[in-house]
Amino acid sequence: MRSLRDKLILITGGARGIGLAIARRLGRDGGRIVLTDLDAVELERARESLQKDEVDCSVFTLDVTDTEALPDFRQRLHDQLGPVEVLVNNAGVVFGGPFLDLPLEKHLLTYRVNVDGVVAMTYNFLPDLIAAEEGHLVNISSASGLVALPWGSTYASSKWAVLGFTESIRQEMTELGHEHVAVTTVCPGYVDTGMFEGVRPPMLMPFLEPEQLVDKVRTAILKRQEMVLEPWLVKFTPLLKGILPRFLSDGLADLMGVTTGMKSWSGHAGERDD
Ligand SMILES: NC(=O)c1ccc[n+]([C@@H]2O[C@H](COP(=O)([O-])OP(=O)(O)OC[C@H]3O[C@@H](n4cnc5c(N)ncnc54)[C@H](O)[C@@H]3O)[C@@H](O)[C@H]2O)c1
Repeated sequence: MRSLRDKLILITGGARGIGLAIARRLGRDGGRIVLTDLDAVELERARESLQKDEVDCSVFTLDVTDTEALPDFRQRLHDQLGPVEVLVNNAGVVFGGPFLDLPLEKHLLTYRVNVDGVVAMTYNFLPDLIAAEEGHLVNISSASGLVALPWGSTYASSKWAVLGFTESIRQEMTELGHEHVAVTTVCPGYVDTGMFEGVRPPMLMPFLEPEQLVDKVRTAILKRQEMVLEPWLVKFTPLLKGILPRFLSDGLADLMGVTTGMKSWSGHAGERDD
C-alpha cells in the first residue's frame, strides 16, 4: 500500500495496548481509523485520547466472538463510512497457569477470541479488501505462534492457528489472482501492555514497547511485508527449530527461559485467579 492517507482502517481490540498504538500510528499517517473493542468504557477513553492527537477516529463496541452480529456491523460501517481497506485483527486474550488448574471455559474462550474471532472478522471483511484498489489484512499472532509455551498452552496454540490461517489466506489471495490484497502475520515477543504482566521475558528478549512494534507494522503495510518478527531473535526461531534436534531446541528454550517465563504471569490487574 503506497500510502495510508484516507484509507479506512478497522482495528479489533483497539481500546488499549497494541491495537491503540497501531491506531495512533496509522492515524498520524492520515488513515481513517475505525476502532472496535469489547470494552465500551476503555474504547471511549481511547477515542478521546486519539482525538487529542487529531486522529480521524470512529469507535464501535464490538465483541469479535459474536459472529452473528458481524454482517450487520459490516453493513453499518458501509452505510456510515464505506468499505474497509485495512483490517487489523488484534483482539486477543490470555489466561496463564498450569493447563489443568484453569477452568476449561478460559481455554475455550481463548480459542473463541484469538482464533474464531480472527476467522470470522476475516470472513466478513476480506470481500471489502478484495473489492478495494489495494487491501491489507494484518493478523496479530505472537512469537508464541512459533514455539511451545508451558503455562500458556491454549494461548500459544491459538497463535499457531492464527499463523497457519494467515499464511494460508495470503497464498490463497495470490492463487486467486488477488495480488492487490497484501497479508501480514505479526509475531511479537512480549510487549509491555499489561497483558503479560508478571512474566519473566526470555534471555535477550526484553519487553518491547508497543511503539517499537507498531513502527514495524506500519512499514509492513507500506512495503507489503509478509511477516513481522520482533525482536530480532524471533527472526531466527523458525530456522533454529527446523535445524536443531528436539532435545537441543528444548534445551535452548529452557536455557533462555522461554519454558518457564509464564509461570509468574499475572496479566492485567485481577486476571489471575489464584
Ligand atoms: N502484549 C504482548 O506481549 C503480546 C505479545 C504477542 C502478541 N500479542 C497479541 O497482540 C494483541 C494485542 O495485545 P495487547 O497486549 O494489546 O493486549 P491488551 O489486553 O492490552 O488488549 C487487548 C484488547 O482486546 C480486547 N478484547 C478482548 N476480548 C475481546 C473480544 N471478544 N472482542 C473484542 N475485543 C476484545 C480487550 O478489551 C483489550 O482492549 C493480542 O492478540 C495479543 O495476543 C501481545
